[in-house]
Amino acid sequence: PKQYEYILTSKPDPSVALITLNRPKALNALCSPLFDELNEALAGYDADPEVGAIVLTGSEKAFAAGADIKEMRDKQCAFSDVYKNKFLENWTAITNLRKPIIAAVSGYALGGGCELALSTDIILASPTAKFGQPEINLGVIPGAGGTQRLARAIGKSRTMELVLTGRNFSAREAEAWGVVSRVVGEGEGEVVKEAIEMAKVIAGKGQLAVQAGKEAVNAAYEGSLIEGLRTERRLFHMMFATSDQKEGMSAFTEKRKANFTHS
Ligand code: CAA
Repeated sequence: PKQYEYILTSKPDPSVALITLNRPKALNALCSPLFDELNEALAGYDADPEVGAIVLTGSEKAFAAGADIKEMRDKQCAFSDVYKNKFLENWTAITNLRKPIIAAVSGYALGGGCELALSTDIILASPTAKFGQPEINLGVIPGAGGTQRLARAIGKSRTMELVLTGRNFSAREAEAWGVVSRVVGEGEGEVVKEAIEMAKVIAGKGQLAVQAGKEAVNAAYEGSLIEGLRTERRLFHMMFATSDQKEGMSAFTEKRKANFTHS
């Protein structure tokens, strides 16, 4: 695989891509070059026909401790700088991927780190995970979706409390509130192992259906119920134009395992 400065990439299984944020000295603070590398790797795996799902993780100590505060500090009152250079706008690329992306979170997921996790499709948390939007302590507010995605996930009152006090929330709170799909067992590397297993399961399904399913669930977050239901119905209808639908339903009636061809 290509050598990057701030991330590591590998395939723990031919069908699964693993991207590890690797800027240990700064607890994986998301500086611009790191994000450029991340987007390049994500785009590569999204286009790789062998890959069915992507896992994104950090270290045991930190998934990511936020946007890079030192980089931001030097933007001296420069609205024109951040505006003209579209600061943080390339952070949305991850939400346009076709393939499912699972965040395996250990340690700090703060500020932009929390927002990055919220931009993925499924979050698995280690018991050590600590989430939060501490931007208020820096004299700013979340800028990569935190106020919007948290409000949709956990409601107004909790989001207001977190955004206005800046307090962290635990893996258990994240689980109880539905921010993460579940907290895995203790033990080093456990959360990444679980995420890879889940990615393998997803990659074993028909990829057209997986991608349509992701698109349909996302429609629930992006528009009204009526539009979402219409999107779901249309995508469901589209499945009947695939070989995978014939194969999946034939395999069920013939009592055998489906052999999806992703076509
Ligand atoms: N940006 C830049 N550097 C960071 C960083 C960040 N977000 N977070 C940590 N680091 C650096 C520290 O400066 C330190 O570097 P030095 O050794 O050169 O001093 C190194 O990483 C280790 O950090 P600490 O010594 O602070 O480690 P700790 O274990 O004592 O504390 C922590 C860990 C509680 C996570 C603490 O580092 C911290 O509070 N970090 C900042 C968290 C934060 O405010 N994040 C929000 C950023 S703003 C944002 O993300 C905007 C947005 O919405 C997009």
